[in-house]
Amino acid sequence: MNSMTWVPESVPISLPDREVHVWQVDLDFDRACLPSLEELLSRDELARASRLYFESDRRRHIAGRAALRGILGHYLRTPAAALSFRYNDFGKPALDCDTDLFFNLSHSGSVALIAMTRGIPIGVDVEFMRLDVDFTGIAARFFSDSENAVLLSLPLQQRCRCFFDCWTRKEAYIKALGEGLSIPLDRFDVSNAPGEPARLIVDRADPLMSQRWTIRELPVRDGHVAAVAVEATAISWRLFDWSSEPIENQLKCRRAVSGTNLNLVRAVHDPIFERTC
Ligand SMILES: CC(C)(COP(=O)(O)OP(=O)(O)OC[C@H]1O[C@@H](n2cnc3c(N)ncnc32)[C@H](O)[C@@H]1OP(=O)(O)O)[C@@H](O)C(=O)NCCC(=O)NCCS
Repeated sequence: MNSMTWVPESVPISLPDREVHVWQVDLDFDRACLPSLEELLSRDELARASRLYFESDRRRHIAGRAALRGILGHYLRTPAAALSFRYNDFGKPALDCDTDLFFNLSHSGSVALIAMTRGIPIGVDVEFMRLDVDFTGIAARFFSDSENAVLLSLPLQQRCRCFFDCWTRKEAYIKALGEGLSIPLDRFDVSNAPGEPARLIVDRADPLMSQRWTIRELPVRDGHVAAVAVEATAISWRLFDWSSEPIENQLKCRRAVSGTNLNLVRAVHDPIFERTC
């Protein structure tokens, strides 16, 4: 992400139609701030966090949901703690209020991405590129024939990147559809050849899907790969980086302006992404 410029903190950000905003958040924070982040969450969110085995996962889950609330609250001009969510049968969260703000969240290690649109289905996925993965074994189980053929055609040193490109693109699409693994992962093909732009090649359930959907790779932190999928074409993209400052500062700021969540976003945008595609 070169040539980035800061959006001034005092500029309130709004989300026009046909624009996608993606926020990158660092989920590690000063432990002393845990109670103030927990205060923003609902009982069911805290209960879900408490069921996670590792303490680091519990903290990051809390940070992710707190950031999600803070960012959504910013757009909706609503205090983060006042938001409530509903879930579809497959666990996809949506805002439980009268709004056309659609969002999706993904996290991997300390990185979270929160993607949003107005009224357009959206899914996002970020993965840390672990090397201790049985790439060909997992791909044989989940990827389509053509995706597997691309993966197996590559020398070993290129397979890790190809695998995670394919995985994140498929996962972003699945998450946008919102029906989890009830959708067979080999029903559709995404691009995964090295250097090939992210795209949905075909969804065999509906051949017109590839004309309606856009998948983009996101330039995230080193060692990670990410993709976002939206049911739209000819859209603009803006990326905001919340990871430059600790999450507790971001959320404390938000709380310090009497819950309006307005003028406190230290955001950075990537002009490369600010174009219609
Ligand atoms: C949620 C799911 C869709 C993705 O899980 P994941 O990759 O482990 O996790 P991510 O960090 O990307 O996403 C989790 C977030 O997605 C959201 N989410 C939950 N269920 C969802 C669904 N059905 N659709 C879209 N988003 C969903 C939630 O906000 C969740 O975060 P939270 O629990 O902190 O609120 C998971 O249920 C799933 O089915 N994964 C499929 C994994 C797989 O085999 N992928 C193969 C790709 S080739």
